[in-house]
Amino acid sequence: MSELFKNFIDGQWVESHTGRTFERKNPATGELVGTYTKSDATDVDAAVAAAANAFKTWRLFPAPKRGEILFRAAQILEQRKDEFAREMTEEMGKVFDETGGDVQEAIDMTYYMAGEGRRLFGETTPSEMRSKFQMSVRKPLGVVGLITPWNFPMAIPSWKMMPALIAGNTVVIKPATFTPKLTIRLVEVLEEAGIPAGVVNVVLGTGSEVGDPLLHHPNVPVISFTGSTDTGKSVSLAAAEHNKRLTLEMGGKNAVIVHEDANLELAAEGILWGAFGTTGQRCTATSRVVVHRSVQKELVERLVAGASALKLGNGLDKSVQVGPLVSGGQLETVKKYVQIGKDEGARLTLGGIVATGEGLENGFFHEPTIFDDVKADMRIAQEEIFGPVVSVIPVDSLDEAIEVVNGVQFGLSASIFSQDVNTVFRAMQDIYTGILYVNAGTTGAEIHLPFGGTKATGNGHREAGTAALHFYTEWQSVYVDFSGKLQRAQIDPV
Ligand code: UN1
Repeated sequence: MSELFKNFIDGQWVESHTGRTFERKNPATGELVGTYTKSDATDVDAAVAAAANAFKTWRLFPAPKRGEILFRAAQILEQRKDEFAREMTEEMGKVFDETGGDVQEAIDMTYYMAGEGRRLFGETTPSEMRSKFQMSVRKPLGVVGLITPWNFPMAIPSWKMMPALIAGNTVVIKPATFTPKLTIRLVEVLEEAGIPAGVVNVVLGTGSEVGDPLLHHPNVPVISFTGSTDTGKSVSLAAAEHNKRLTLEMGGKNAVIVHEDANLELAAEGILWGAFGTTGQRCTATSRVVVHRSVQKELVERLVAGASALKLGNGLDKSVQVGPLVSGGQLETVKKYVQIGKDEGARLTLGGIVATGEGLENGFFHEPTIFDDVKADMRIAQEEIFGPVVSVIPVDSLDEAIEVVNGVQFGLSASIFSQDVNTVFRAMQDIYTGILYVNAGTTGAEIHLPFGGTKATGNGHREAGTAALHFYTEWQSVYVDFSGKLQRAQIDPV
């Protein structure tokens, strides 16, 4: 009988009161990788109660000391990086190098926020009055509810958890049902590092049975959600009803501009990595290539050559470059979009089929797929696919390229390949995305700059960097009058 993974509530690993379980199978092989307790609203209530109680003391625990716990957690994560990467590849499918990167992102975020425990800066400013001092300080908000996706099973939970914790909030997290194990590992590490009981709680289960009660819970004033645009919209409505603070991180339709003067070898390399790394299942994945018509043919030849050489398989095999899709449902979505692309009249130049062959029989593998001569308004050039499919859109000028890049509902990441400084600065000025790369692909954001997107990608907030601390804290402006008399601001003379 395999181990049953449990909820973590008030410092204890406990089964759900429901007695039910769910399983997760390796998307590359079909083997069982975990059995998890399946919770409902009653478990959420218990977790929120524990977090609300722990908040009373955690908010007063000195931030530099909170930072020391996070620092120890980062050290443990570092020691166990390979082990966690292996488990992540088994549960989610992306290749071992990339799952190592995912764990590394959690390590980076944890060290970074550990340091912020000694910063959490406010401001002091002079007063309009004599003998009066004033400053702003940051306050935590209370219990934060975190709902996280399956594509970055440890990095994204750490993006949300670490800034929330360093600022003095307590946490209830619901990880994706495809990838609960790495959130459990992250919390085990925090437990080992000495996080007090109730400060971090995990409740395992589905969006409707665990996510919804968390979202609607009256004692959870803050929600952070990363996932699909459709779910994000309903999260937004629920949060509005309860007047909750909310950060949303949703879809992308990220584009690379290849200008006529681009280094084509470098551009092709960047596009292949951005489009087919993580099997295209990143919010930041490259899914459109907006190429100047004069270099279209050569670029597409390079892309087709590079993509056909990619090796598919189980990501634990070090020679494999592309793993499976996370699930049968995701594979179906990719197949559906390939059909849409063909029906719309785009030219399929590579892939477009489920991948078969030795070692691929039991997994959700799809061939890297390239559509050429795509028009900017086709559905495959407008809608997020979240799979190994890239659309090449030819244009005749930089103006047109920028218009195409901006001409989608999303605004997460974009990039431009060009050797010309004026072209690059034009793009920087006029491309309206949350993240922009120059002479690199659309993926690879580092944790100490803001992460997030414009338009339908988000709701104006950013994760990571100091921006995350803005989200997880409330400002308090404090005025201290030491004149010994009533001084009426805006009225009395100095
Ligand atoms: C995501 O796909 O939701 O920039 C996160 C990147 C990674 C994070 C991606 N550092 O691609």
